[in-house]
Amino acid sequence: MKNPHPPAVDTPALLIDLDIVRRNLKEMQKKADECKVDLRPHIKTHKIPELAQLQLDLGARGITVAKVSEAEVMAEAGIKDIFIANQVVSETKLNRLAALSKKVYISVGLDSISAAEKLSATFAASGLTIEYLIEINSGLNRCGVLPGREAVELYQATDELPSLQFKGIFTHAGQVYAAGSLAEVMEVSRHESKTMVETARALKEAGANAEIVSVGSTPTMKIWQGQEGVNEIRPGNYIFHDAIQISLGVATVEECALSIAATVISRPSGERAVIDGGSKAFSSDKGAHGKEMASGFGIVLGKRATLARLSEEHGVMNLDPEELLEVGDTVRIIPNHACAVVNLFDRAYGMRSGEIVEEFKIAARGKSQ
Ligand SMILES: Cc1ncc(COP(=O)(O)O)c(C=O)c1O
Repeated sequence: MKNPHPPAVDTPALLIDLDIVRRNLKEMQKKADECKVDLRPHIKTHKIPELAQLQLDLGARGITVAKVSEAEVMAEAGIKDIFIANQVVSETKLNRLAALSKKVYISVGLDSISAAEKLSATFAASGLTIEYLIEINSGLNRCGVLPGREAVELYQATDELPSLQFKGIFTHAGQVYAAGSLAEVMEVSRHESKTMVETARALKEAGANAEIVSVGSTPTMKIWQGQEGVNEIRPGNYIFHDAIQISLGVATVEECALSIAATVISRPSGERAVIDGGSKAFSSDKGAHGKEMASGFGIVLGKRATLARLSEEHGVMNLDPEELLEVGDTVRIIPNHACAVVNLFDRAYGMRSGEIVEEFKIAARGKSQ
């Protein structure tokens, strides 16, 4: 990040370096093109329709979301191809999904016969059909059926149900966020793809064609070289990167597009400065799925400082006593987890060469239903 000095905005403020964003997006798109796979970025990272549109303009096939409400925001903004990489099971959400499917192409994940029955009943009642992808557990141990036989059995059970169309399989190897080395990241990535290719093969033997075989997280895709049989990737965080990606060894500070500008409101001692943002600006995220960040709550740009403690509206930095930082000065900090931070702000400021050039409404923030 060339310019660590924050521009003139009130703080705490969310800043997006638009040149870095474009570079990150182009790089992942290039990888997808070279590997001859579709890129379907997860937009839960930025939650901004204009950035989703930029991803599509640069070549993405469609977008991925986690929630029906995120899909609604993106559809409203004109995005036409949306995959909900999650389980949708409540009646309210299923009805909203059916309504949405009349306006845009929408597909959805599922991992149980119970979810499939509910989905089928809602769509059959509306005279609609929906394409679904079976979620495979490739090691995260969150949602998903086990690879191989369990996936085949679920397909065989769901194939009987009306209004559902089998489209493929997807997985997210989020356990990569607990990796202790780049070699471990590579191993998880290899396992993620291999598991999916084997499951697609097992399905084929059972007479099912998985048209889409979809993998992806930012770490497993940053080091990916392609895999015969995988034809879609769904990274999300790569648009911004963050301190967690740096700690895993898959990104550099120069690739981090998102930062928070904050003002020093107190310098009680040489070793301590307090800024005007705490857990309601930085989130309390110290690392997802296992890896604890050693460096506090973010990377303080251009200063020998650690954001060591957060209360809701205060961030306490431990400083080198020689560091020149006075009350009223501003600092810029790369957060640990960009996706969690974006969800805390109403708007973000787009910058080029240190100047604010655009303001974005974070239209899907808070859309967790
Ligand atoms: C199902 C699914 N797909 C894709 C992603 C994107 O992964 P990342 O945030 O590492 O880019 C996530 C992230 O949580 C996810 O849950």
